[in-house]
Amino acid sequence: MSKSLQLSVVLMALIIGAFTIFHSSCDFNPHRHGEWLFEMHCANCHMEDGTGLGELIPDLWESPYLQKTTIHEAACLIRHGIKTPDPLDPDLEIYPMPPNYELTESEIANILNYIGNNFGNEAGYINPTKLKEVLSDCPNAEDRQW
Ligand code: HEC
Repeated sequence: MSKSLQLSVVLMALIIGAFTIFHSSCDFNPHRHGEWLFEMHCANCHMEDGTGLGELIPDLWESPYLQKTTIHEAACLIRHGIKTPDPLDPDLEIYPMPPNYELTESEIANILNYIGNNFGNEAGYINPTKLKEVLSDCPNAEDRQW
């Protein structure tokens, strides 16, 4: 082996070693911002671990809602909130989810990427262009405001 080849092998080993140490020392979490936003805006109702509160607040684990809608459609629920009428008595006020008009599109994207890929959900990831399109035309956006 030539001297320069030996030197490059040693350098390569050092770089790989340094990268491994760096990578394992930082607690890698691709949804850190979404998790933080969830804790700020959602966890007081849905709980930090997403388990909700019995009959009052839905559990977000393996969410049937995220299975029957797309992750993009769920953006309208976060932006405008939801008040599901009780199918047995539409006049009955059931506990609503409030709207989040202060959240930016990228904050909504980060929250959805977090809940959509945690709590046992596999809802995929947000495409920002598609998100903009869906949010600009939420069905019944007016009706959902209160
Ligand atoms: C004040 C309490 C409250 C806060 C804060 C809140 N939610 Fe909700 N959320 C609810 C309630 C209540 C429902 C059920 C509403 C209904 O169906 O009428 C709900 C429904 C949902 C659903 C649909 C679940 C299902 O199975 O129907 C999702 C997803 C969701 N919330 C996510 C979020 C996210 C993300 C945030 C934070 C941006 C958030 N929520 C903040 C109370 C809250």
